[in-house]
Amino acid sequence: MAKVGIFGAGWVGLVTGVCFAELGHEVVVRDVVPEKIERLRRGEVPFHEAQVPDLLERNRERLTFTLDVDEVVDCEFLFVCVDTPPTYSGDADLSRVWRVVDELPELPGHPILVMKSTVPVGTGEKVRAGLDARGLDHVGYASNPEFLAEGHAVSDFMGPDRVVVGAFEAADTDAVASLYDGIDTPIVRTDVNSAEMIKLAANAFLMTRISFINEIANVCEATGADVVAVAAGVGLDSRLGPHFLRAGIGYGGSCFPKDSLALKQLASNSGYHFQLLSAVIEVNELQKRRVIGKLKRHLGSLHGKTVALLGLAFKPNTDDMREAPSIVLASRLLAEGADVRAWDPVADGGTLPRGVEIVPSVADAVRGADAAVIVTEWDELRGLASEETRTAMANPLIIDGRNLLDPAETRLAGFTYEGIGRQAFAGDPSPTPTP
Ligand SMILES: NC(=O)c1ccc[n+]([C@@H]2O[C@H](COP(=O)([O-])OP(=O)(O)OC[C@H]3O[C@@H](n4cnc5c(N)ncnc54)[C@H](O)[C@@H]3O)[C@@H](O)[C@H]2O)c1
Repeated sequence: MAKVGIFGAGWVGLVTGVCFAELGHEVVVRDVVPEKIERLRRGEVPFHEAQVPDLLERNRERLTFTLDVDEVVDCEFLFVCVDTPPTYSGDADLSRVWRVVDELPELPGHPILVMKSTVPVGTGEKVRAGLDARGLDHVGYASNPEFLAEGHAVSDFMGPDRVVVGAFEAADTDAVASLYDGIDTPIVRTDVNSAEMIKLAANAFLMTRISFINEIANVCEATGADVVAVAAGVGLDSRLGPHFLRAGIGYGGSCFPKDSLALKQLASNSGYHFQLLSAVIEVNELQKRRVIGKLKRHLGSLHGKTVALLGLAFKPNTDDMREAPSIVLASRLLAEGADVRAWDPVADGGTLPRGVEIVPSVADAVRGADAAVIVTEWDELRGLASEETRTAMANPLIIDGRNLLDPAETRLAGFTYEGIGRQAFAGDPSPTPTP
């Protein structure tokens, strides 16, 4: 078993830490935010992610949380799990990565610096040169990108589709791969640049599928097809598969938006215009705003209308609101003069624009509302189309931004219902024309 140091106690760093501890390694997690470290020392997880609290509790004796960089000095592996947000230009901001490199203490033996943060292709080569320039040429370097998804991060880490390791030395690749002993998964051994590109390409491909099915949904709306049936039929093709073919109001989160920009910038900095990715990004931006058009078709002007936003996190089972479509929707609704009430079971809505009323329950959100919009497909919303909701609303209109509800059942329950790319039914109350 190894001693593993981790820089960053965010989603990736903490999940990596508790999972390596679960695999039997001794782990030191270092962050720069004192409250985070204090909470972790008390056994509290600073964000909502299933299984992390249990693993933290179960492996306490193998986990140390610290602000002190010197505590990683005898670690054999140093994982970089810091955030790499976009800069104004769209390039990845690597300042936190460089801070880790600059802060590394004198390290004995042959520790390996392992990059788990998502970084542009070529970062490893630059970090390698930076380590050498600091006299740390005895420190190995490997890229080991992370593919976990928030909401089921622990099961993704413990049961990944693959582990990718790219290093400058074969022995370093083997050493990093050996940390995952006990997890039955293919290990992709490659060079550093390719490992970095695998992460960016995988994310770009997933986003492409989302924007693709969203465009198909929009064409379905115009032509009378039903995107749910279309996606099911398409996804059964073994060349295509069923994943990431769920139409909705667009992707958000801490990864897809920034990683798509970073890859687009990386390409254009290298002289290549990545046309397809540019379209994927644009489609996603437009998709978030389509709900506004749907609301106007039913309600006319939104000025003075009360709209309930149900779900704020960028996806269910997380409280992460980074780049969540709810933020764009709330801003647009406020700009249209609507009164916006918002509810989420775990996200606190702190990053929503001023003027949004955050309420503690679905019942509070829909009371007297002119429309309810499902923004995040929380399980709690599956029973939304109830008699209780219908009578509580001023106007029983549901815009289902995630195609969570059954259209026929919802209409039978007395609601006017619109999903994304779903067939309009005969007998559906005709929308009020926009004045
Ligand atoms: N969140 C995801 O689902 C996910 C999935 C795969 C990959 N990634 C990538 O992993 C990286 C981390 O993402 P995240 O969501 O965990 O970010 P995060 O913002 O949740 O966490 C980053 C942590 O790093 C800490 N930090 C910053 N500078 C530090 C330093 N010098 N030393 C120690 N800690 C420091 C921050 O305080 C923060 O707690 C990003 O590059 C991201 O793109 C994220």
